[in-house]
Amino acid sequence: MGFRIKKSYWILILGIVILGGCVYKVAHGSNQPDEGTEFVIGVSQANLTEPWRVAMNDEIRKEADRHKGLQVIFTDAAHSNDKQKQDIDKLLGFGIDLLIISTNDSENLKPIIAQVHKKIPVIVLGRAIGGYDYTLFIGPANETIGRNAGQLVADLAGDQQVNLVEIQGLAESPPVLERSKGFKEILQNHPNIHQVDTIVADWNRDKAEDQMLETIKNHPQIDIVFAHSDAMALGARRAFEKKGIQGVKIIGVDGLEGENGGLDLVRRDILTGTFAYRTGGKESIQYAMDLLQGKSGIPKKILLRVNKITKDSVDQYVHNKQNILHAPKQHKHPIELGFVQVGTESSWRAANSSSIKKAAQDFGIELKFKNANQSMENQIKAIRSFIRERVDVIAFSPVVQTGYEDVLREAKMAGIPVILTDRELGLKDDSLWLTSIGSDFQEEGRRAARWLLEQTKGVKKEINIVELQGTSGSSPAVYRKKGFEELLKNNSNYHIIASKSADFTKEAGRRVMKEYLKKYGDKIQVVYAHNDDMALGAIEAIEESGKNPGKDILIISVDATREALNALSAGKLNLTVECNPLLGPELMKAITDYVEGKEIPVKIITEEGIFSQENAKRDYLNRAY
Ligand code: AHR
Repeated sequence: MGFRIKKSYWILILGIVILGGCVYKVAHGSNQPDEGTEFVIGVSQANLTEPWRVAMNDEIRKEADRHKGLQVIFTDAAHSNDKQKQDIDKLLGFGIDLLIISTNDSENLKPIIAQVHKKIPVIVLGRAIGGYDYTLFIGPANETIGRNAGQLVADLAGDQQVNLVEIQGLAESPPVLERSKGFKEILQNHPNIHQVDTIVADWNRDKAEDQMLETIKNHPQIDIVFAHSDAMALGARRAFEKKGIQGVKIIGVDGLEGENGGLDLVRRDILTGTFAYRTGGKESIQYAMDLLQGKSGIPKKILLRVNKITKDSVDQYVHNKQNILHAPKQHKHPIELGFVQVGTESSWRAANSSSIKKAAQDFGIELKFKNANQSMENQIKAIRSFIRERVDVIAFSPVVQTGYEDVLREAKMAGIPVILTDRELGLKDDSLWLTSIGSDFQEEGRRAARWLLEQTKGVKKEINIVELQGTSGSSPAVYRKKGFEELLKNNSNYHIIASKSADFTKEAGRRVMKEYLKKYGDKIQVVYAHNDDMALGAIEAIEESGKNPGKDILIISVDATREALNALSAGKLNLTVECNPLLGPELMKAITDYVEGKEIPVKIITEEGIFSQENAKRDYLNRAY
């Protein structure tokens, strides 16, 4: 208790010493701290000139007001990295229990965030930073925003030849790179859309206006503009108005409420569309409280849902936002969860099933558990039976990425939310599920490739790789392959000479590896297996052929199970990229949050690392699965 009173003094001193300037608010009602302060959270905001950031702080403030005993101190870095570093130091000096930071320049601030993270929990809000040296990231699904914007541009263009201008925020910042990546992915399939210019306007409305005036000089015929924020989209509209140009379709991003917010601009036909997502302010406080209170099931990253807003949908969107999402849901007591597992194909899966069963008990949720034996049809049958039983929530890990549309619509009609765990679906309509909890499979593939490139740096000769894919059409197989190829494609001496599914099982891994050895023999230098079981099967096949796995042939796999760490210490496996199966607590937390009426992010991502031979013995001892 003494500690708490001390903290209140600090805040009082802060209120007296800092007049205006950088630390501008001691929240929870007034500037006078409560005697009953239990936790103090510092919010380091990048600037307060972007409306989106003002809205974020408002959300933080509103949510903080709901928690008695919570004090929030805000700082404004006014677009400066140096100022943001000083702000963080000041906040630490005030004895904050947790830092929420929305960065000015993520790369620049990464080291200080890592330092703070060693002392207290850090929530990174809005702009992602590389690596894992923070507690939790909350932000929008930026690639999805880009893809959806690309699709809207394609829909607006139809089969006409059109000229397009893209207006980006801060150059090279993660949201810009991710949004552009998703945007380009869609546009590359539409040769009738000609991107005539790309403007970089630093998220600034007036800069967007000035730059667009310049662009118009060179390209008088512009049909569509995609701006990475509504503020910049508004700047572009002003430029066209100044030039007396009408009819340009402008799309923005943010979808904020209030005058000149994206929703208002769409309603008034100033914008043709926008992509709305929450700022994450409210969620940051909710997760901060969960962290401070030591709750379980906190993920590493959460991505917020993106909603396409056009004139036809804007009112419905606002109505839903106000009325549906925040009401506590009616449910049975205890909450009933129907869960359909993929099967029993791997030791990863066994650990995943145990985690779900254990967490259901810990959270007091009644679990009805079915096993689909790797069959999509079995999964669909099981989901239908759960719909008939009217369980409160259905969760499943889809065997493959497609084929579930009808049954998901049936669940939606029945008003039963569906949660995807571990594997994802490749469907466009993400309103068919509440959230998706699991790994970033593409990043797992990139990690495998990154390690290989590092290990073989400087090797000039050809490097031949054979790949053992997981179940064909499953999201881990699709994305682990994609991520691996993404990094290798710029290195011309790396060749994937064979790639075949071995269904994530040890037996099939062994069988396919035998085929590879027969066909390619000494040519094989590397095996990339999409999971440990297949790699362990391949190791057996390599040994049977008289070669030394891990030495004559490098073996890389994914999952990081105990068996794999054992193979690492024996020198038979070279790397395993972690894929965390312990998703039970995160699933149960999402379910309880949902029934309490909290908004659920569209994607919940777990923390993962890589394991190589160096520390395998030590890691083996601490391994939970
Ligand atoms: O979907 C996750 C994958 O499925 C795991 O990597 C694999 O071992 C499992 O069977």
